[in-house]
Amino acid sequence: MEVLGIKTALIGIRDDLLSILERGMEASGIELQDGDILVVSESVIATWEGRVVALDSVVPGEKAIALAARYGKEPQEMELILRESDHIVGGIPGVVLTLKDGFLYPNAGVDRSNAPPGSIVLLPADSRKSAAMIREYFASRSGKNIAVIIGDSRTHPLRLGCVGVALACDGILPVEDARGQHDLFGRELKITRKAVADNLVSAGQIVMGEGDEGIPAVVIRDAPVEVVPGGTCQEMPTIPPQECMYIGALRAGPHPYLGGHDDLIQAAAAAMKTAYAPYSGFSVGAALLAESGQVYAAGNVENASSGADICAERAALSRALAAGETGFRALAVVADTREPIAPCGICRQNLIEFGEGIEIVMANTRGGACVATVGELLPHPFTVASMKARAEDEEKISDGVTSTPLPGK
Ligand code: THU
Repeated sequence: MEVLGIKTALIGIRDDLLSILERGMEASGIELQDGDILVVSESVIATWEGRVVALDSVVPGEKAIALAARYGKEPQEMELILRESDHIVGGIPGVVLTLKDGFLYPNAGVDRSNAPPGSIVLLPADSRKSAAMIREYFASRSGKNIAVIIGDSRTHPLRLGCVGVALACDGILPVEDARGQHDLFGRELKITRKAVADNLVSAGQIVMGEGDEGIPAVVIRDAPVEVVPGGTCQEMPTIPPQECMYIGALRAGPHPYLGGHDDLIQAAAAAMKTAYAPYSGFSVGAALLAESGQVYAAGNVENASSGADICAERAALSRALAAGETGFRALAVVADTREPIAPCGICRQNLIEFGEGIEIVMANTRGGACVATVGELLPHPFTVASMKARAEDEEKISDGVTSTPLPGK
């Protein structure tokens, strides 16, 4: 397999990309052959499509201003990211992870690299259409059966460095299903699918580079990949988030209960019988395991004035605090519900006061159970740490406003 770089002049907004590529091929001595795969960088496609925005023409909205402050980005850039994405998943300083058309993109593909000063390049508006157009043009000019891929780059989770990804292709199948084939030991491959188009983009990127090389496209020759008739513009296959290993595994709890707190669940179930719940008839039991090893259990406590009800979790917590405990390992909560019961918002707030890591075992009387830390159940909480931002307040808090030492101090 050969990767032949196509060096071109700088491509400007709405320049005629097709003839620039054609001249580049000529100058590089490349004559298209049957089976050739032309890989073109998405940034030149976007420029060709006119997807270049002058930053000072963008007026950021309120949401963009708030997100820009949170993630340390320019408000104008954040406004474009918001407009370009379907959903902001989260972020770290300088970059937000976005969902767009079923794919994850850093910053929704809004990119300053290779953009003229003061401007920014968006992703191509329609990579599939561009791939089909380019394929058609070069197939008819050369009379050869070729394929085209629009290439971008991306990092893998926890991995340093970018690899190639295809945004669209025409004339090849983007993913080859290798299931049913056999490994070296004759074992049948069960889940292997080959990301053919992505792999070809990666190969192309070794020659293209990402910076000032001036090689926005390559021709890949003699790849062991079948070129299929064009016109069947191939949608890049996605998998739904719930079937994605990364998204599924990293999603916060609850997780299945795998044992370790059977006694605590038993204690909670016993406490459920002591519930004072004449109004709702809904009995709940909770058992709290302190660092000391002691268990404090209680049922819910209702009142004719329902606002005065105390949940089982807080009743158990009050018992523990009254006994002088302030450090806790786990809490089990049990009710006769179809699904394991989850602590209410007020209880989550009361529990997180004593540490985000407390394990909450949510169970029912039918043997169902799942676990999550209180931090997982109450993400981005308001705690004493939030108040520490103000140094004076911190002084006041530690200087005797409360007599019990605050957790995490
Ligand atoms: N309750 C609890 O004790 N714990 C929970 O996690 C949820 C709700 C109680 C409060 C009230 O007595 C009854 O259930 C109905 O809301």
